[in-house]
Amino acid sequence: MLTTPLTDAFGLDHPICSAGMARVAQADLVVAVSNAGGMGCLGGVSFMPDRLRDEIGNIMSRTDRPFAVNLLLPDSLTTEDEAQWAPVRELWGSLDETDRAKLAGVEALLTPGAVAGQVEVVLDAAPAAVVLTFATPDWFIEECRARGIKVIALVGSLGKAEEAARAGVDFIVAQGYEAGGHTGYVSTLTLVPAIIDAVEQPVLAAGGIVDGRGLAAALCLGAAGVWVGTRFIASPEAYGHDTFKQRVLAGQAKDTTITFSYSGKRMRAFTNAWTRQWETSGERPAGFPGQYAVAGTRVETGYQDGDTEFGMMPVGQGVQLIHKITPAGDIVRTMAAEAEQILRAAAPRN
Ligand SMILES: Cc1cc2nc3c(=O)[nH]c(=O)nc-3n(C[C@H](O)[C@H](O)[C@H](O)COP(=O)(O)O)c2cc1C
Repeated sequence: MLTTPLTDAFGLDHPICSAGMARVAQADLVVAVSNAGGMGCLGGVSFMPDRLRDEIGNIMSRTDRPFAVNLLLPDSLTTEDEAQWAPVRELWGSLDETDRAKLAGVEALLTPGAVAGQVEVVLDAAPAAVVLTFATPDWFIEECRARGIKVIALVGSLGKAEEAARAGVDFIVAQGYEAGGHTGYVSTLTLVPAIIDAVEQPVLAAGGIVDGRGLAAALCLGAAGVWVGTRFIASPEAYGHDTFKQRVLAGQAKDTTITFSYSGKRMRAFTNAWTRQWETSGERPAGFPGQYAVAGTRVETGYQDGDTEFGMMPVGQGVQLIHKITPAGDIVRTMAAEAEQILRAAAPRN
């Protein structure tokens, strides 16, 4: 068994977390990963508070193992300043009814006050951990601490890691350039040890990790575990149209691109007609969350409708190494077993 500060802190069998992928990581995936001895993370960011409560309730009724919830708490989402929300609402209002309907119940990033509602739901449910991306506000960390909830910060740069470390988070996920979703400029192989050297908190590695080789490599770098996104898309428990999952199986690293067209922030996703159209249009993205008002529905065009050309499909370079739809629990167990074998074989014998 691989024992690390991550497994110790949460009582896990394996140092493996599934990433809190918005829409993709819903209750089924979280339950499967946590019941297999890893830690599942609910992609909580887009759920309206009531839907988030239901989703967490669903998880809690199916597992008593630890799980996490991902939230985004930058000022641009927590502000109640109507002047800041007005342009976002205007962009959102300019979409046609069919597009807007696709986000019913999951339009939290476009709704003033919704993130405050999410915070209330999550603090009330007290999951084992909350994973924060983009920002680690002091007030939230204090609330978590008072309830025994661990805070994990997901970062893509050394500067952000240092900021999160100063804020007093419990763990840091160092996410390299290879990763699917919002991502930075530095590769996993460089970023993980750089952050380990700079902070006191245990660090998890993310970006391009899809199997036991990736887990073993991360542990050799000094990571306390791994945070895995793209691999879990190709599982029956992940939310998303079969066409999207088949696209993952067929995908290569060169099929992914960095685009600002989804949220206004750097994101790795499949290159397709939508991302190419944006690149050639010369249009400037509207910033965050304004651009999400324009393109948030695009994920549902991919996930619900299975339209891989005009859907927005975040995915990492590790897609190259994924060839099979595999139950999420098996992904966890196989990754751990492979890593143990690799590390045992590599250990000096004397
Ligand atoms: C489909 C998809 C959706 C994602 N959504 C989120 C999200 O909502 N919040 C977040 O913090 N990270 C999100 N990410 C990034 C993951 O948390 C994770 O860091 C990344 O997937 C790790 O790299 P990998 O894809 O190579 O495993 C997403 C990634 C993917 C592939």
